[in-house]
Amino acid sequence: MDKLLIEGGKVLSGEVAMSGAKNAALPILCASLLTAEPVHFTNVPHLNDISTMLRLLGDMGVGVTMDGVDGLVLNGGGLNNPVASYEMVKTMRASILVLGPLVARGGEARVSLPGGCAIGARPVDQHIKGLQAMGAEVKVEQGYVHAKATRLKGARICTDMVTVTGTENLMMAACLAEGETIIENAAREPEVVDLANCLISMGARISGAGTDVIRIQGVDKLHGATHAIMPDRIETGTYLCAAAVTGGDIRLLKTSAAYLDTVVDKLMDAGCDITVERDAIHLVAPKRLKAVSLRTAPYPAFPTDMQAQFMAINCVADGVATIRETIFENRFMHVNELMRLGANIQIEGNNAIVRGVERLEGATVMATDLRASASLVIAALVADGETLIDRIYHLDRGYERIEEKLAKLGASVKRVH
Ligand code: UD1
Repeated sequence: MDKLLIEGGKVLSGEVAMSGAKNAALPILCASLLTAEPVHFTNVPHLNDISTMLRLLGDMGVGVTMDGVDGLVLNGGGLNNPVASYEMVKTMRASILVLGPLVARGGEARVSLPGGCAIGARPVDQHIKGLQAMGAEVKVEQGYVHAKATRLKGARICTDMVTVTGTENLMMAACLAEGETIIENAAREPEVVDLANCLISMGARISGAGTDVIRIQGVDKLHGATHAIMPDRIETGTYLCAAAVTGGDIRLLKTSAAYLDTVVDKLMDAGCDITVERDAIHLVAPKRLKAVSLRTAPYPAFPTDMQAQFMAINCVADGVATIRETIFENRFMHVNELMRLGANIQIEGNNAIVRGVERLEGATVMATDLRASASLVIAALVADGETLIDRIYHLDRGYERIEEKLAKLGASVKRVH
């Protein structure tokens, strides 16, 4: 199993390009199930989660052709096996995103229930409830969701909570339903908007994406299209934190601050100087950051996927920060590992109270989930001496060539096999 060896204390500086967004690419690749015509994607990140999704789509009969460095053509013309097995879904929960498109296009899907994961129970009841409202007959048997419908019917759906992949699944299903679907309490995440834009270019009739009410007028068929995946706002935020904690000066290219308001604001509160350019972000960090408190919530509030990284920067900031997690019930797995590096963190329910220390000290730590791993990388970059991060397959799920990109910015980082 690969590990990452980081020698802390290097100040990050220079420029590096950001990749396409994992959380936009995953649902967008599933949109190819909605048409028999080829769909061309660009800016697709090279990540393990993307390979898993391509394997899953390939197993279903979707033709997968690579096109250049970050391009991909998916052809759903040969779709013949509407099944997502437990083996696939257990490695990547986002596999559930095939459910809506499969039922909408072929009238049937058998998708394994994802089960819990490190950060929480994460049920998919809202995905199922929405499909049922659209007339699908859904049975949960032997750990699989089995959904059937001759043709889905438009419906008014109000989800019990804001769910990102739930909104995406139902929006995709509604594209081919008969009549109008209204999704209320919809997720407003930029990745939902990117998916909607891709679907619109495939002929879908969607309005309101980016607000909490999305309206979809079903059409009989969708067609092929070309779509560029949006930049990864979480990767961008992670590199900003990495530079900030080292007192660095970096420029991130091929990205946008448009969807990072809360993250940029918090970094400025911490004392960073940030200049937003058209397709780039420039950050200059102070010698020592100030502590910043935050509370995670659905977009446009502070993203839960940036919580762990801000925990890491607060570990060495000047002052005390309170971090409140409101989306997932168990998303403080990184705390114990950060404490192994010398952090002072106290957990009280869903609050973490972080008292900044002058210095962290390198140690061996273990990555527990994707963003938790990113927080360990950030802490390691500023810790004295060497930190060995074990189980970095989590990082490879969501950060493209992380050691290369960090090394380009001057970090001392090595992948150890
Ligand atoms: C997506 C993101 C993930 C991010 C999360 C929250 C992808 C591939 N993943 O995950 O990186 O951390 O949004 O921004 O885009 N819930 C239910 N029932 C459901 C659906 C959700 O109870 O049917 C609960 C979840 O357990 C969680 C909350 O709703 O507590 C939000 O989850 P959700 O937005 O669905 O997260 P994901 O879409 O899985």
